[in-house]
This record gives sequence, C-alpha cells and structure tokens, in this order.
Amino acid sequence: MDRENLNGRIYQAVQGFEDHLQYELGSSLSGQWGDLYYAQSAEDGGGIPCLSNQKYREPGKEIFWQLNEWLEPFRLHFSSISEASGALREIQRNWALLPFASYRRAVLIQSKLPPLASMSKPRPFPWQLPETPLGAFSLLDENTLIASASCSSPFPAGRISFVEDREGPPSRAYLKLWEALTRLREWPRPGERCLDAGASPGGWTWALAQLGAEVVAVDRSPLEERVAVLPRVQYIRHDAFTMKPEDLGPMDWVFSDVISYPDRLYDWVEKWLASGLCSRFVCTIKWQGDRESLGEYFAVSRRFAALPGSRVLHLFHNKHELCWMLPWKL
Ligand SMILES: C[S@@+](CC[C@H](N)C(=O)[O-])C[C@H]1O[C@@H](n2cnc3c(N)ncnc32)[C@H](O)[C@@H]1O
Repeated sequence: MDRENLNGRIYQAVQGFEDHLQYELGSSLSGQWGDLYYAQSAEDGGGIPCLSNQKYREPGKEIFWQLNEWLEPFRLHFSSISEASGALREIQRNWALLPFASYRRAVLIQSKLPPLASMSKPRPFPWQLPETPLGAFSLLDENTLIASASCSSPFPAGRISFVEDREGPPSRAYLKLWEALTRLREWPRPGERCLDAGASPGGWTWALAQLGAEVVAVDRSPLEERVAVLPRVQYIRHDAFTMKPEDLGPMDWVFSDVISYPDRLYDWVEKWLASGLCSRFVCTIKWQGDRESLGEYFAVSRRFAALPGSRVLHLFHNKHELCWMLPWKL
C-alpha cells in the first residue's frame, strides 16, 4: 500500500455551476475527476487550462461554488477491497463515498466501513449536527483511491435532506433556512425577535414561527393567508431596503431572501451592522446574469465574506445564490 498526500485541496462542484468553480479556481485548477476538482497549492505552479483566463483565486480565500471542500486530500494505491477499507478505518470511523469511477468496487469498500446511520436518512429540524468528523473518499480506478479525513461539509457528499412538511409552508424555500441554521448549530429560540425581509410567500416566516419566534415579515408582496394568520407573525407591506433598522427596533436575528442586486443587500446589511441593533444574520446573496458579470458577483460576495466573523457558503438547498451567515463560530 502506498499513500501520498496531495498538496492542495479538492472541491466538489455544485452541479450546474461547474463553470463558476472553474472560474474561481483559475490557473490553480490542476485536475478533475467527475464532480471533484483538484486545485494545487499556489507554490506548486502547474495547472491545466480552465474556462477563464483570469486567475480569480486569491491565496487563502475561501472558494464559494463548492458543496464540499476536501481539506487534507491524499491518494492511496491499494490491492484489495479490505486493504482500502482497513486503511480508511484506521484513520477514523466515518467516511462518505462520492463515486464516479469503478463504482462497484467503491460501493464494496463502502460496505466494509461503519454505516453513517444518522446521516443516511432525512433529518427532522431542528437537528443537532454530530461533532464527529466525516471524511470523503472516491476511487480513481480499481486500485487507486483519493480521500480526505477532514472536509468542510458535515454532510455526506455535501448533501442533506430534511423530513419535509408538505402542508404548512407555502414554498420549499424554508429548506435552505433549515440548512443554514443547522450549519450554524444555532436557531431562533421561542420569543426571539426576527426580521424576515423578502418574506413572501412565507416559507422562512413559517419556519421561524414554528420555532416560537416573533417574526416581522417584510415584503412588497403579501404572505400567503395561512402564514399571515399564524400567531407571532406581523406582516409589513414595504420595500425592505428603504426601512431603517431604527424603524424596526432591536432584532435577535435578521434574515433576508430578497431578490436583489447583491450590492443593494450589502448596503442594507452595513446599515444593520452600524446600528448595533442586531448581531445575527442569515442572508441569501442572489446571483443573476451571464458569465460576463461573474466577476462583479464574486467581488461583492468577497465583500460579504470579509465582514468579520462571517462566512459565505453555497448550501445544498441553494440554487444560483450563496448564503451569508454571521456569526460563524466553527
Ligand atoms: C425568493 S422570494 C422569498 C421566498 C421566501 N423566503 C419564502 O420562504 O417563501 C423573494 C422575495 O423578495 C421580495 N422582494 C424583492 N425585492 C424586495 C424589496 N426591495 N423589499 C421587500 N421584498 C422584496 C419579492 O417580492 C419576493 O417575495
């Protein structure tokens, strides 16, 4: 058996947005296996041609358009299934497979690893994430495996599914809020004041009300009736961005799922931060437009990520959008 550390990181692309990841990685992109993109550390040089001529990646900066980042990747040459599973088990208990080659053999290795019982079925919300590390592995061919014992996502292959409520919420947007709060390992407690900007038709407001929070829901469009009548929900028909923090008063949480240009959201968030009236935020940064404007979206997303103590992620339930969260304590 022969093990070699890979000098760099492996990123699992978000399906449909592979070009965004390629753009971000720029000339550090050194290899691709299925959904997995390998970026060598800057000092290694090298690299393969990518879609963009720009080298967008700044050293040490997080990569947004990925579902899971393999933080300590290595390659292992092995001769048998039990040798491969034994090598992984020796490192730690929990491993998730992301197969793309030698599928049967990869599944046989997986079957010899401890099952990921708490992760493999839909979770109810709220759900406290387990603290135990979760690694990732894949086969390059019948005798070569790539793996990482530590990964950025606590979910197998970056994917999480929740036990859905098909009657209460008027949209499935609440799933991305559940995912964000699960990642934060914190959620509004009963009686906490929450602002939900861009609340219509009411998925996030519904989810917050379910937690027992007091919700001020602001949108230019109405909430669906069944959400509007919930106890502890107050609806204000207004442009959320022209309401000053002082108009609304102290909040325990500020949420935004407003469809807007990200710089407009950024200016609004800055006002909230300057007001000192709220310190916990979950906001969707909506991306639109074509490849030509990608640079602008990256630039404003970097400004969000640079806000002290915060984090920008692409959640599994996000579409063409990112999620900015503050505070990020992990
Ligand atoms: C993606 S939807 C929100 C979905 C919602 N989070 C849910 O769970 O049902 C975006 C909302 O932003 C609202 N919106 C767009 N611009 C706005 C603004 N300036 N102020 C308030 N709401 C706005 C739209 O009316 C729309 O209802």
